[in-house]
Amino acid sequence: MKKILTTGFLFFSFLIGFSQQNQLDYRPTYHHTPPKNWVNDPNGLVYLDGEYHLFYQYNPFGDKWGHMSWAHAVSTDLKNWKPLPIALQEFYNPDSSQTMIFSGCIVIDSLNTSGLFEKGFKKGMVALFTSHVHKNLKEIAQHQSLAYSSDKGRTWKYYQKNPVLDIGSTNFRDPNVFWYAPQNKWVMAVVKALEYTVQFYESKDLKSWTLLSEFGKTGDVTKIWECPSLTKVPVNGTKETKWVLMISSGHRQKGYLAMQYFVGDFDGKNFISQKQDEVLYVDEGKDFYAAIPFSNLPQNQKNPIIIGWLNDWEYANDIPTSGFRGGFSVPRQISLYQTNGIYKLKQEPIVKTEVPTEKISLNAKTGFISKLAKSNANVYRLQLTIDLSNAKGFDLHLLKNSSNTSILSYDMASESLSFDRTHSGNVDFNKRFPSIETVKIKPENNLLTLDILVDKSVVEIYANGGKTVITDLVFPLTNNSSIDFVWK
Ligand code: FRU
Repeated sequence: MKKILTTGFLFFSFLIGFSQQNQLDYRPTYHHTPPKNWVNDPNGLVYLDGEYHLFYQYNPFGDKWGHMSWAHAVSTDLKNWKPLPIALQEFYNPDSSQTMIFSGCIVIDSLNTSGLFEKGFKKGMVALFTSHVHKNLKEIAQHQSLAYSSDKGRTWKYYQKNPVLDIGSTNFRDPNVFWYAPQNKWVMAVVKALEYTVQFYESKDLKSWTLLSEFGKTGDVTKIWECPSLTKVPVNGTKETKWVLMISSGHRQKGYLAMQYFVGDFDGKNFISQKQDEVLYVDEGKDFYAAIPFSNLPQNQKNPIIIGWLNDWEYANDIPTSGFRGGFSVPRQISLYQTNGIYKLKQEPIVKTEVPTEKISLNAKTGFISKLAKSNANVYRLQLTIDLSNAKGFDLHLLKNSSNTSILSYDMASESLSFDRTHSGNVDFNKRFPSIETVKIKPENNLLTLDILVDKSVVEIYANGGKTVITDLVFPLTNNSSIDFVWK
């Protein structure tokens, strides 16, 4: 009898565990994810006629990397995305090798410089992507190719004379193109990945490209360089703009991936960086990579907007989601500010107003009372202004339950903010996953502001108005998490 009871109990527990596990699909609610399958880099971010387009690296056949193609989603407000059919799909070549559609960009060829559209047509989309040729996954070539669309990205044609740029390399990729008005020409940033080098090319027609200059072998060279972009960014509170070169590469903690940036000047030929004594990272977390800016934003939108991929190649194929794998950060509006004589990036998230949000001001004499803390939803936005005078620091527990917690801590003595996901729940799927991110940051007039986005398995933390950002994935073991704040 005892045995039957025990077996019955075990079976019952299994069922509960199973159904709980099933509910824990970790699918974010206000971060865009694909309906199913694998995704990585955002591609071809572009605005046209009231629609923002998000194309992205996609495997139509499974939830691991492979068969890279461009999936497509559109939005009218950058917050609600509608999936559309696949835009560009991996194809076979006559010699039975295959071409994967690797990362790239889209520009609006409003002057029909390419001659690919009907005379006078102002709304032609041209996609420039890396054509990655392989046979049974063995790399044969990486070169840059074109596809074009006259119906707002719904249907595409490959240019007959592809590729348009080939330097005989198997590690030459991720073209990002913009219109350089002072010289009436297109400029492309593209990487020689293994050489930590960005090359700049110019073109009058998007089809023939001439090398302008190179920039590289500096900053973070702990990992190969990918997904470059060069963008003009306004400096807050001034009429000035500077050029920002972003590159996906290594992380402050060796062995992980992140994005670094250089701020400087561009004269149509060379990019010259300001003197940077430290490496500048776009995001201090482990899960923000391959971000690129939107092109062709409306005139009144002066600041660039970027979207990044939420994952890290170190464990990307193993994250414990089911049915889909990978997703995107919320769009971030970027600007520059000056500090100690150098320019740095500031990022502001664009978030749906429907997300349960709470604003709280705290000091060492007040207790932490939060309505969200009891909402048990794992989906919220928490905006804190923390007065640190008379405090040694604090621990803020996010996604906390009886068995796991993710801790955002500040320590006054070392002036460091850290995010600890080593006990955040499901961390064993890959030994590279459990980690602590730590970054130096000073309170401003004794105040630290934190804008924290929690969305099932995504945590984005914007500190001091977005001067420091930490983005990490976490996989809590229940949906019933709480929030807790403890002064040190
Ligand atoms: C970056 C990247 C790109 C490449 C793409 C392939 O995550 O490796 O360099 O184009 O992913 O999916």
